Amino acid sequence: MKALQTNYGSLALRSPIILGSSGITKAYENIKKADQYGAGAVVLKTKFQEPLMAHSPTPRFTIIHRGGKDYASTTNLSYEQGYEFSIDNYCEEIRRCKQDFAIKIIASIGCSTIDHWREWAKKVEQAGADAIEMNLSCPHSDYVMGRLGQINEMVKQAMPEVRQAVSIPVFSKMTPQLENPLITAKVMEESGSCGVVAFSRCLGLDLDIDSQTPILHGGYGGHGGPWSIHYALRWISSMYPHLHIPVSGCGGVVEWQDIVKYILCGATTVQVCFLVYTYGYGVIEQLNQGLARYMDKHGYATIEDFRGNIVPKIKDLTQVDREKTLIAKVKEPACIGCKRCTDICIYDGIDFTGKKALINEKCDGCGLCPFFCPKGAIHMVHK
Ligand SMILES: Cc1cc2nc3c(=O)[nH]c(=O)nc-3n(C[C@H](O)[C@H](O)[C@H](O)COP(=O)(O)O)c2cc1C
Ligand code: SF4
Ligand code: SF4
Repeated sequence: MKALQTNYGSLALRSPIILGSSGITKAYENIKKADQYGAGAVVLKTKFQEPLMAHSPTPRFTIIHRGGKDYASTTNLSYEQGYEFSIDNYCEEIRRCKQDFAIKIIASIGCSTIDHWREWAKKVEQAGADAIEMNLSCPHSDYVMGRLGQINEMVKQAMPEVRQAVSIPVFSKMTPQLENPLITAKVMEESGSCGVVAFSRCLGLDLDIDSQTPILHGGYGGHGGPWSIHYALRWISSMYPHLHIPVSGCGGVVEWQDIVKYILCGATTVQVCFLVYTYGYGVIEQLNQGLARYMDKHGYATIEDFRGNIVPKIKDLTQVDREKTLIAKVKEPACIGCKRCTDICIYDGIDFTGKKALINEKCDGCGLCPFFCPKGAIHMVHK
């Protein structure tokens, strides 16, 4: 698919869709599938310096469904650790993949000392990696979580060293657990990063209330889900006008429309992870096809034609129209008198006449009730 070609810094990719670092990119057989189904690149599973981070417990995955009808969430909470084997095995895997597959290979390393950052960066470059992603984001790793509040300092120290050590592009992956991710993205840019990945997952907790213990491995775990895209879209659209390096959007992709949303907010590439754990590698093909159909529909020849298009349209505090121009309206024949709308209207904007809902003058036009009417009987109209 020619139209999907994307330049991620100096890396020419056949698609903007990248498989995010995790178990889905841990070894030769995984990369083979990513290549076969048309991903633009893979970020290999992170090789950490911390020895403990090479050993995962069992089980290490859980899926949490919370809430009720009309208001539910799906969360993946997991505790999968880094690449299991040595840095030399890691490099050997890179060599084999580069020999056999066309897909671009981005090595991911996570170190706590400058010497290791430098040494491992050189090793993966020598093995043939097309680029490096510095994992400055892992929710499980103590070198990141133990240094929240000092991430910018960590970037300033490590990034120039890694850039100096290698000639391939070096990207940096951000944790979302920052007061202002734009500041950290700028620090990454100024320290020499060739692009930023926004974001990894947060560290979260769920518990069993009867045994009164943390679930799964008994501690905090990385958590994500379809809901996590909105935070990333918000920050990527804020970064787009301020950065001169590409941003790789990451988090919450569940359908091709999400890829389009990331690009409209300014992302150059989009990373996908848990969707592949959920449905397998075939989803990459579906994402590519959906993206290509969208481009055809809108007459776009390249990704660049619509990248960042939404950003100038995002209103700030002073620009939002605060005129109250809308109210709700009930289509009487469709109303079954279930009273769901009256239960939820915090403005007391709905009366009952006989067995039907009727909007009164207290309706504030908030726009909520149409989402909860089981019959689709309410819509918003101009006053
Ligand atoms: C099971 C699992 C393992 C992961 N391992 C890594 C890792 O080793 N290194 C890394 O940088 N990110 C890792 N991540 C984060 C993902 O690369 C990605 O940033 C995150 O899951 C958000 O994308 P998603 O919502 O598409 O899953 C992992 C995520 C999951 C779910
Ligand atoms: S639009 Fe809002 S204020 Fe108006 S009736 Fe519905 S819930 Fe009440
Ligand atoms: S929620 Fe819909 S169907 Fe139920 S009373 Fe309100 S308008 Fe009628």
